[in-house]
Amino acid sequence: MEEAALEKLEKQGIHQWSDPEEFPAHLKKYWYQRHRIWGKYDEGIWMTEDGWFGVTPEPIANKIAVHVGESAPAEKTIIIDAFAGVGGNAIAFARSGRWEQVFAIEKDEATIKCGKHNAEIYGVGDKIFWVRGDCFNIIPRRYSGNKNTVIFASPPWGGTAYSDDKVFDLSQMQPYNLAKLYHDFWKYTEHLILYLPRSSDLNQIARYAPEDKKIEVAHYCITGASKVRTLSTNQSKSHHFN
Ligand SMILES: C[S@@+](CC[C@H](N)C(=O)[O-])C[C@H]1O[C@@H](n2cnc3c(N)ncnc32)[C@H](O)[C@@H]1O
Repeated sequence: MEEAALEKLEKQGIHQWSDPEEFPAHLKKYWYQRHRIWGKYDEGIWMTEDGWFGVTPEPIANKIAVHVGESAPAEKTIIIDAFAGVGGNAIAFARSGRWEQVFAIEKDEATIKCGKHNAEIYGVGDKIFWVRGDCFNIIPRRYSGNKNTVIFASPPWGGTAYSDDKVFDLSQMQPYNLAKLYHDFWKYTEHLILYLPRSSDLNQIARYAPEDKKIEVAHYCITGASKVRTLSTNQSKSHHFN
């Protein structure tokens, strides 16, 4: 990209980092992981600084896409990525070819621009409908009454000093705790997938299992380390895989 165009983007908080010298020191670990996070990083991926903390690495996003695609009933043809970020999951859902429509909601302007651009790099620019705004307003407005939807939500994990070692209290997750996510999204679909820290409290999750249904919990790992946990409602079985 031309220098002037890059400068214009940088003013908006969007970066196409290709030089380790220019990469922010406090994010350095992500520089070393960039190709694991984005297989096509060198083709010109755009990121915000915050985007690095939340983006789902491509191998995990692909696994989740396969798993969600297989476990949702065939009549579910629309997937909504409620917190789409820079596009990690939305791109994987679109690439899977499983969905008639993929909607990606993101409230931050610079972040959604990155997502749209990154989707182009992966050849799915025309397969994702991007919607800028607050998912808690947009989902009721646009998708209530639609029976074909699945909601995938990878919310921010802020809150009581998230750490991998101790059990993560999902009632303290900020800015949206488990109760808020569950109650707000459950009204619109029984097929809800939440992407949560691997140390999430399973007892808190279990409380949301609908009567006579099970909640499925899956761990997704990169090179042996369990990174995250997803839970899906309305599943008939429960399994873990590494
Ligand atoms: C953990 S990141 C999602 C990362 C995404 N799965 C990816 O792979 O890039 C959470 C995102 O949710 C966005 N967000 C937070 N609250 C939101 C809301 N109410 N509606 C829509 N987006 C929101 C944040 O700006 C952030 O980009």
